[in-house]
Amino acid sequence: DKGNHRHFMAKEIYEQPEVLSHTLAHYIDMASGTIRLPEAVPADLAALKRVTVSACGTAYLAGLVGKYWMEKYARLPVDIDVASEFRYREVPLDPGGLALFISQSGETADTLASLRYCAQNGQRILSIVNVQESSIARESDVVFPTLGGPEIGVASTKAFTCQLAVLACLAIAAGRQRGVLGEDDERKLVRSLIEVPRLVGQALKLEPQIEDLARDLSRARDVLYLGRGLNYPIALEGALKLKEISYIHAEGYAAGELKHGPIALVDENVPVIVVAPSDRLFDKTVSNMQEVAARGGRIILLTDAAGAEAAGDQPFATLVLPEMYQFVQPLLYAIPVQLIAYHTAVFMGTDVDQPRNLAKSVTVE
Ligand code: F6R
Repeated sequence: DKGNHRHFMAKEIYEQPEVLSHTLAHYIDMASGTIRLPEAVPADLAALKRVTVSACGTAYLAGLVGKYWMEKYARLPVDIDVASEFRYREVPLDPGGLALFISQSGETADTLASLRYCAQNGQRILSIVNVQESSIARESDVVFPTLGGPEIGVASTKAFTCQLAVLACLAIAAGRQRGVLGEDDERKLVRSLIEVPRLVGQALKLEPQIEDLARDLSRARDVLYLGRGLNYPIALEGALKLKEISYIHAEGYAAGELKHGPIALVDENVPVIVVAPSDRLFDKTVSNMQEVAARGGRIILLTDAAGAEAAGDQPFATLVLPEMYQFVQPLLYAIPVQLIAYHTAVFMGTDVDQPRNLAKSVTVE
């Protein structure tokens, strides 16, 4: 049932405030404002040398955000790879290590094969899964559920942000156990997470502005997405989402990589979507934008009020999100990139919920 929405994808985008609240409530003790994991992580986080993450597609991109979080907030080194590469890479693993798998369906063949490889090589298995009665859930030592509810649209939306919510809680727990975060740090980060559902509600209000932009984007042949740090995976996710449902060619790049190749593509026909909340690296991103603008590229900037001010009149369009703590930015900036893909696809008249050549659950290699 799509409710009042034209597509399941739209319904699922709009469910995010609610399912994020449910998911966060499963990992946060709301009374004390601290993390309370439903089960212990099957490895000693304090002593852990490294975490190995494998997943596919959008779930992989959630893992990439998780890497940035765990490295920064828990000083925990993270290796991450797409499962189709990991499973054949013959990765050497120290016995007793922690392997983390992320999957909406819990049935993705490459992710499951990677899990089995890790289990055979003495790893403890932790999975973040949406479908609890799935193969990946069954074969894990511990499962951290995302409480996203059924996701029908082939393009993952609410499952992605719920995966991020769980990874954020895991990173805070790891940071505490490893002595990187103190009690006050934990409370501050948890408070910022508790704000997320409300802020997502605010981000959804950008929809009319995004609908206007989508008309324009639907005429593009190529679209570039740029982001830095925690928002680099969001640029990759924006590009994946746009190509998968609108069939417009899109690529995501780390903003700093622009001048190492992709800038050659930029001309007045290539929209460049820049995911850049104002932060200590914002000046660098502004100079990347200048390079784009100088070649006639049309910039669509996703930022906050301070970023919009600093960017001046360079962007062709600016989508202004609320100010928020840096930690939670990927959860919020995911929303406009979902809406951009959705409305562009609606303009193109593609089958948004069932894009060609794609299956919701990829159970073959
Ligand atoms: C993109 C998308 C896919 C899945 C990928 C992994 O919108 O939905 O990239 O994220 O096939 O699927 P799961 O999470 O079920 O393992």
